[in-house]
Amino acid sequence: MRIIHFETIGSTQDYVKALAAKGELEPCWVRADSQNAGRGRRGREWVSRKGNLYASGLYPWKMPDHQKPLVSFLVAVALAETLESYIAPDLISLKWPNDVLVGGAKIAGILLEAGEGWLTIGVGVNLEHHPEGTPYPVTHLLEHIATNRLDTAEPIYAGPDPILAQLAQKIETGIHTLQTESFAPIREKWLSRAARQGEVVKVNLGKETVEGVFETLSENGALQLRLPNGTLRDIVAGDVLL
Ligand code: BTN
Repeated sequence: MRIIHFETIGSTQDYVKALAAKGELEPCWVRADSQNAGRGRRGREWVSRKGNLYASGLYPWKMPDHQKPLVSFLVAVALAETLESYIAPDLISLKWPNDVLVGGAKIAGILLEAGEGWLTIGVGVNLEHHPEGTPYPVTHLLEHIATNRLDTAEPIYAGPDPILAQLAQKIETGIHTLQTESFAPIREKWLSRAARQGEVVKVNLGKETVEGVFETLSENGALQLRLPNGTLRDIVAGDVLL
């Protein structure tokens, strides 16, 4: 897989979207050491100073509409599997729809955008630092790696490049699974790491907040909430509050 590297860029996501608009047909990843216009979900800013992973993948893909929201789950699973090679797996959990948590705090974010015949996967992973003042707890990878292990001859943490290489590979495997099998194996892997399953959670739907027991993930990626009145509600878009 081709990886294009920039020291600094506005947003890797905007860069790959421009490639897609030009009809670029080869899948590729773009990584930047820093971004000065990093974007998060819902138009939020993604603070992007040097030290963390900021990357976007471009996949030419004629995807049926119903598959689009499912991709975020395979990316979250790929991120969890990648981080598991650096830190204890039981520290890592996944929060619907696509946040990766370590010790209950957000470590990575995923931004998916799709157009006619293409999909872009933006990932931001806090490796060496995390932003201050966020409305939810945040963390970074080095906070969870024992410092004595960083000084060995074969460092287990060697910056963003090996992490992106591993992640891109796992995402490709996940896309292949979704295309050739179904969502079922990805759903299983996601659920095995799901944060707060069986617990009461609050979900921000934009205009309202709903509360209920997080029962499971549906076969089409919806969060299934058991409401206080006993009914099961499928949530297709929103944010589970930490
Ligand atoms: C989120 O809000 O949780 C998603 C954050 C996604 C950030 C990444 S960093 C690389 C890529 N370029 C961007 O401008 N955004 C994504």
